[in-house]
Amino acid sequence: MWTSWWLWALVAVCAADSFRDRAVSIMEETPVVDGHNDLPWQLLKRFNNQLRDERANLTTLMETHTNIPKLKAGFVGGQFWSAYMPCDTQNQDAVKRTLEQIDVIHRMCQLYPETFQCVTSSADIQKAFQDKKVASLVGVEGGHSIDSSLGVLRTLYHLGMRYLTLTHNCNTPWADNWLVDNGSDEARSQGLSDFGKRVVKEMNRLGVMIDLAHVSVATMKAALQLSRAPVIFSHSSAYTLCESRRNVPDDVLQLVKSTHSLVMVNFYNDFVSCKKEATLSQVADHLDHIKKVAGAESVGLGGDFDGVPRLPVGLEDVSKYPDLIAELLRRNWTEIEVRGVLSGNLLRVFSLVEQRSNHTQAPDDVPIPLDQLEGSCRTQYGYSEASSLHRQPGALLASLATLIFSLSLL
Ligand SMILES: *[C@@H]1O[C@H](CO)[C@@H](O)[C@H](O)[C@H]1NC(C)=O
Ligand SMILES: *[C@@H]1O[C@H](CO)[C@@H](O)[C@H](O)[C@H]1NC(C)=O
Ligand SMILES: *[C@@H]1O[C@H](CO)[C@@H](O)[C@H](O)[C@H]1NC(C)=O
Ligand SMILES: *[C@@H]1O[C@H](CO)[C@@H](O)[C@H](O)[C@H]1NC(C)=O
Ligand SMILES: [Zn+2]
Repeated sequence: MWTSWWLWALVAVCAADSFRDRAVSIMEETPVVDGHNDLPWQLLKRFNNQLRDERANLTTLMETHTNIPKLKAGFVGGQFWSAYMPCDTQNQDAVKRTLEQIDVIHRMCQLYPETFQCVTSSADIQKAFQDKKVASLVGVEGGHSIDSSLGVLRTLYHLGMRYLTLTHNCNTPWADNWLVDNGSDEARSQGLSDFGKRVVKEMNRLGVMIDLAHVSVATMKAALQLSRAPVIFSHSSAYTLCESRRNVPDDVLQLVKSTHSLVMVNFYNDFVSCKKEATLSQVADHLDHIKKVAGAESVGLGGDFDGVPRLPVGLEDVSKYPDLIAELLRRNWTEIEVRGVLSGNLLRVFSLVEQRSNHTQAPDDVPIPLDQLEGSCRTQYGYSEASSLHRQPGALLASLATLIFSLSLL
């Protein structure tokens, strides 16, 4: 009796190991492309972006979820690094500070060329796989980073931005954020304003992925309906399993399915279990749920490492991805499905976004109406002289009012 118990235990242990071995052998060929990592924010907070400070050495840095040895152990072959600026920069220095976060990502690639390869296309991600480098891309987190300017949007594209999260935890003048759905913020655009729709179209034209993490459900639906290319949720999980408004509800998952879009699952405990504690197995439950509702082609990984204070037991840092993949294999995900989750699904969406871009189409050069902007530190060059060009009813009324006002002064 004792012998047979011992034998079963041994079989169980070997089976567990074999799932991990299979995960590793899959990942040697198909590494992870993760949708969202906040290491650049940590570099700003801890070192004021001084990468050559000894303490900032990415090989020996220990206090963060991300460093070079952990990336290697985790088979990370691609990362959208977050150029994130908190909402208190809106209408202030958001653009400048976003530029600085893009710069620190570029300098990471320069300082560690044996590890990181800064790239801007789906084809170059695959080249980086072959070179055994971490393909490094820029995701800008928060629509306030464009300061309501299509010119800034286009310039960020030229600097390498390949996704823009339409909002962070605040409304922009043109898109509503998720906090309107739990009652702690007021809807302003009922999803996307007319200008917000033009932002989405300009992103389509350029070939910048539309990221719907952090936006309200109305914004999700408006963007999914309008975009002529699939969209992503760079770091969001399933609302049905944890009723946080940062997560994606099932009716939106249906739209994700019908548009061949992608949800990259967030590992933050508060979005996984809605509690302070969570486990790797509960993260796998989110992957299972999104697969059930939207199909395995719609599932990806967006761990939110270095952007959150609490992570599940078993997923403490970026070295742990193989354990999550082993869990999916244990749950009978096929090898094809797993390769999709790792990077195939993201590469499909990204290359469709590239194919549907159109750089011969004219850029949209109509600015946001002046009366939709807020903040006192902005100049108004161009607006007064150009207002008659726009022939917008609002602008026309405003200039009429100005005329009457100035006549009455005479
Ligand atoms: C980081 O530390 C490693 C190991 O000590 C060293 O080889 C490397 O030159 C350092 N890199 C930088 C950029 O300081
Ligand atoms: C909405 O969620 C935020 C973030 O978790 C929280 O701070 C806020 O209190 C919530 N608002 C309401 C009305 O529940
Ligand atoms: C996986 O498949 C095996 C063999 O078909 C089956 O015995 C097992 O119950 C399945 N496991 C799950 C979690 O579905
Ligand atoms: C790109 O835009 C141009 C100019 O609007 C248009 O003529 C062309 O058909 C578009 N190409 C595609 C593939 O949509
Ligand atoms: Zn975020």
